[in-house]
Amino acid sequence: MDLKSAIDITRLPSHVAIIMDGNGRWAKQKGFERNVGHQNGVVALSEIVEVASELGIKYLTLYAFSTENWNRPKEEVDALMSLLVETIHKETDRLIENDLRLMAIGDLKSLPDKCHQQLQDTINKTSLNKKTTLVLALSYSSKWEILNAVKAISKDINDGKLDIDNISYEIFSSYLTTASIPDPELLIRTSGEMRISNFLLLQIAYSELYFTDVLWPDFRKEQFYKAIIDFQKRERRFGKTSEQLSNNND
Ligand code: FPP
Repeated sequence: MDLKSAIDITRLPSHVAIIMDGNGRWAKQKGFERNVGHQNGVVALSEIVEVASELGIKYLTLYAFSTENWNRPKEEVDALMSLLVETIHKETDRLIENDLRLMAIGDLKSLPDKCHQQLQDTINKTSLNKKTTLVLALSYSSKWEILNAVKAISKDINDGKLDIDNISYEIFSSYLTTASIPDPELLIRTSGEMRISNFLLLQIAYSELYFTDVLWPDFRKEQFYKAIIDFQKRERRFGKTSEQLSNNND
């Protein structure tokens, strides 16, 4: 049986988030410059977006550039920003044809103008698409997001628009950059690193975590299917006992 047919399409995670890691090591192993790793990372990205949508996954969030990534050498940051503009520009028609909606989370105002404009243009052109939402996390970190939300909430309290006693988690989360996006059910990280790196810390409170040694440019559809199959074997208890879950299924 091939891997795809082992997937139960009635029990897909509705939101998969991915920490795409290992482009640099992939390039180094092959004797290339780091940017060749990022270029091949885009090939993997494109394939995963396509298969996720084909399967019927509703949200796919990709950690494309973290707040901390600004500290990389300027040439690498510039190359990543150019790759981002070029990729989004090139992929816009395909997103439209395949009914994909593009969204972005993060401190988007900190992106170079060209990047911000291209992103906004494609976001606008795909805003009514319904099949799958592709969310790019750009200049994103959870610490930035939470601090940003706290500042906005404080301002609304000061302006008399919000009453402290009425702040529920739902209200708090409406100030996050992910406000309209459901929490991920599955978080994948490639390249063998076992950490979260400031990514969606609140939103993954109950996500299933999947780590693989495969470097991002080699993470293709078969690896994605494996992650989904692994997810479907997990028992998601959300704090309840196993017995409670089986009784509910009776
Ligand atoms: C991690 O590999 C990857 C990134 C920092 C960026 C991911 C970017 C892409 C897949 C391409 C550009 C994105 C878009 C949306 C066009 P790393 O450089 O940290 O690898 P290493 O840990 O092996 O050094």
